[in-house]
Amino acid sequence: MQKLIVGNLKMNLLTIAERDRYFESFKKELKAKKLLDSKIVICPPSVHVESFVKKTKTKTVSIGAQNIFWEERGSYTGEISATMLKDMGVEFVIIGHSERRKYFGETNETANSKIKAVISAGLVAIYCVGETREERDSGFAAQIIVQQIVEGLADISSAKVASVVIAYEPVWSVGSDSIPTSDEILETRILLRKIFAEKYGLQLADKIKVLYGGSVKVTTAKQLCIDPGMDGVLVGRESLIPMELVKIAEIISVSSEQGAVNNK
Ligand code: 13P
Repeated sequence: MQKLIVGNLKMNLLTIAERDRYFESFKKELKAKKLLDSKIVICPPSVHVESFVKKTKTKTVSIGAQNIFWEERGSYTGEISATMLKDMGVEFVIIGHSERRKYFGETNETANSKIKAVISAGLVAIYCVGETREERDSGFAAQIIVQQIVEGLADISSAKVASVVIAYEPVWSVGSDSIPTSDEILETRILLRKIFAEKYGLQLADKIKVLYGGSVKVTTAKQLCIDPGMDGVLVGRESLIPMELVKIAEIISVSSEQGAVNNK
């Protein structure tokens, strides 16, 4: 199955010169590497979306956005709609990232409205879920994730839910260098499968793509994505260095190929 390596550039690449250096370096790195059955999705800040589409989009490289507003058009000063991004060539949108929940008051309910807008524009939502350190330590991680899925995907038909990609990003791991064990990630992947099987049936549960995000680096990628049921990674800091992002993509695609061979 095709692996997704998503780079969330967050609020970085401050100048046109910096952005252009990113393009050059990304192209050079990509040329030098062989990616087996995988796709890189770069999510730049919205001001750079158009140029990223023009300069980097290919069959194996897609462009994503980091956020949208749920309305399509109108008097919503400062906002961007999914339809605008779709027209620009964007294919994915990150929704409900923990930084948006923390700094911009986003909730499961606002994520739900945004996911609906992303789907109706014909884009793929990458819906971020995950627990804080306190929630994990007090034994509430599973409950929080169930609630994020149930509320975030409320009133969306199973045919539409099938297009959503879930990113498990433990909040305590984002930007920290602390990472969960492979077993902890596997447990969460199984929990997600169980929630989807109960709510939408086994067939859909088998189809839903699940990514891991939080301190993914060249040195941790293999361990964090060792479960063959994992569909890829969401990379923050390291995606700002094209060489690292492409190396991570190579590691993920090679280990998925090895998994396929081992499962034969
Ligand atoms: P880091 O890879 O910097 O921990 O960030 C992860 C993230 O937030 C991806 O969306």
